[in-house]
Amino acid sequence: MWRRALLTAATLTFCLADATAAGDYELVMHLKHRGLPELQKAFRQISDPDSARYLKFLSQTELATLVGATDQELEEARGWLLRLGAEPSSLRVSGLRDTMSARFSAPAGSANHGVGVEDRGGWWTQLGASQRPESVQFVVRRDHLTRSAASGEKGRRSVFKGLNSSFGEYTVPKIKAAYGMPVDLVAGNDTTLQMVWGPGTFGYSPLQLAAHKVAECPLLDLSKVHFDTANHGKSGGDNFGEGNLDVKMIASFGLNVKTIVSNTNTSASTEEGNGFGQAMLDFITDLAARKVVPHVLSLSLGSLSSGSCKLLCESVGKEGKFTEGECNDFLQTQRQVCMFISDDQTARINTAFQLLAVRGVSVFGSSGDGGSHYSFQPFSGGAIADALSEVSCKYQMPVFPTGSPYIVSVGGTMWKGDGSHPVAWEEDKTYGTGGGFSWQFGMPDWQKKAVAAYLVNTTGLPPASSFNKAGRAFPDISGVAVEGTSQSSPLVAGMFSMIVDKRLSKGLPALGFVSPRLWKVAAAYPGEAFLDVTEGGTALTCDNGFPAAPGWDAATGWGRPIWPGLLKHLGEDEVTADTLVI
Ligand SMILES: *[C@@H]1O[C@H](CO)[C@@H](O)[C@H](O)[C@H]1NC(C)=O
Ligand SMILES: *[C@@H]1O[C@H](CO)[C@@H](O)[C@H](O)[C@H]1NC(C)=O
Ligand SMILES: *[C@@H]1O[C@H](CO)[C@@H](O)[C@H](O)[C@H]1NC(C)=O
Ligand SMILES: *[C@@H]1O[C@H](CO)[C@@H](O)[C@H](O)[C@H]1NC(C)=O
Repeated sequence: MWRRALLTAATLTFCLADATAAGDYELVMHLKHRGLPELQKAFRQISDPDSARYLKFLSQTELATLVGATDQELEEARGWLLRLGAEPSSLRVSGLRDTMSARFSAPAGSANHGVGVEDRGGWWTQLGASQRPESVQFVVRRDHLTRSAASGEKGRRSVFKGLNSSFGEYTVPKIKAAYGMPVDLVAGNDTTLQMVWGPGTFGYSPLQLAAHKVAECPLLDLSKVHFDTANHGKSGGDNFGEGNLDVKMIASFGLNVKTIVSNTNTSASTEEGNGFGQAMLDFITDLAARKVVPHVLSLSLGSLSSGSCKLLCESVGKEGKFTEGECNDFLQTQRQVCMFISDDQTARINTAFQLLAVRGVSVFGSSGDGGSHYSFQPFSGGAIADALSEVSCKYQMPVFPTGSPYIVSVGGTMWKGDGSHPVAWEEDKTYGTGGGFSWQFGMPDWQKKAVAAYLVNTTGLPPASSFNKAGRAFPDISGVAVEGTSQSSPLVAGMFSMIVDKRLSKGLPALGFVSPRLWKVAAAYPGEAFLDVTEGGTALTCDNGFPAAPGWDAATGWGRPIWPGLLKHLGEDEVTADTLVI
């Protein structure tokens, strides 16, 4: 409960008179969504292959009507912002009418920028509280006008494991051969769109991509890859390496699909700390409200979920050796371990995932590289690190955003021989495919049967007290991860872009949130669309973890793709009884 304590301690000091000098910044009001139950219902039905509403996506305008603020609410928010000192010409309402942003002039050197108190990581709860309209849920700050990219090592390795551009035996053509994907299969529709995203130094080097084309992917059309925002990342940062890997994978497997590389580093400490969650919230909210959305989005970056971080520090706090506050301060010195500040922030990100799904976007996320216990690896650096590592082994610690029930989680497999016999990815008992069960989100219906079979039939499961067997189970599927699950997610996402490309050319809709259909296909046609992975597991240095097993498992999901089967089962839609009636 440490975060709540912090929020209530924050006092309101807003003072318009100070808001004059240089140092512009933006505030974004997140307005309460109306119609959330209807959105959830639309999400379920539009993603459910058995529903008459399956793939009947909603337009930006329809969604604005469903969840967006009313004219009166927008008017109230506008009046409030102006009273706080917003520059009138800077006011912007998002395409879904669910955020309003405004630019402010901050007094130089003032931590509070004259208008309120920042709780942490750009999150403002108390701003203008006394006059705040009911429709404003919370306020976040965009810093892109004032701060420089966070950088510097904090002693932990990022998801992206290295800059070794040589995959050795493990090349794009060989992976495609193992998956049964023709090496010369290129996109045929100009409108197919795929995207990768990250904050901080995230970006890509056109030179590295050109070298990759020569070495592994001669048909790659470099002109199909574009930056999305003015931020193009910065070489030297870990997220820059991440971006390069993401771009290589999604562009090689979604070959010649138009690819957007997006960087939203609009908060402090986006590269490794709790500013990341804020940047993701900003990005995903903005994306869901855009006029044009991609068909496929891959998210490689993430950290332990807010629920896992809470569990860690509450457990350490209970032992009495360290306070929860000390624990949380220590966690912020660990790179990319606790990057989401609260359940509220997570909930809003999840809403944006649902909005994207009902607009037809398929979102994929890396299942993490620390097995089921860590963001990456055990903690090091003294007694508090030892205490945290001990708690981390006692519980399974799910990560986010991959643990969200609204995206497809992609785990990892190793590469051996010709890749025909995949094993769960694990390296030196230090890094390995993430998996497990969310503490925060319940298990969706489409998972229940297969997960129950896994829990009943599998020997060597971790202690029942160490995980939430009623939670969202992940990963859903997996892919090759020699460079971590940061490789498998964009790789698999690219393959789905190719399926979407075929669908669009046949006049069929894109796939939207594809998990319910994937789970259905995997259960009904074993061995057709996914090659089952039954060896390895997520324990790493701990003495417990989730073993891979026949059928779905919490280390590799349903297994890795088999291209011809994926195309057969997802490239067409069956003619249902429903459509025949009409
Ligand atoms: C975002 O990235 C750009 C380009 O790397 C940099 O100039 C800017 O300072 C960064 N902003 C933040 C808030 O990190
Ligand atoms: C890069 O990977 C290749 C193939 O796995 C390996 O032979 C080589 O030693 C690696 N290079 C470095 C610098 O790690
Ligand atoms: C797995 O468990 C289910 C019960 O949930 C059972 O019906 C099924 O036969 C079991 N399968 C195997 C392969 O043991
Ligand atoms: C490309 O996809 C669009 C739908 O987004 C469709 O209208 C168009 O006919 C397709 N073009 C080709 C060449 O298949």
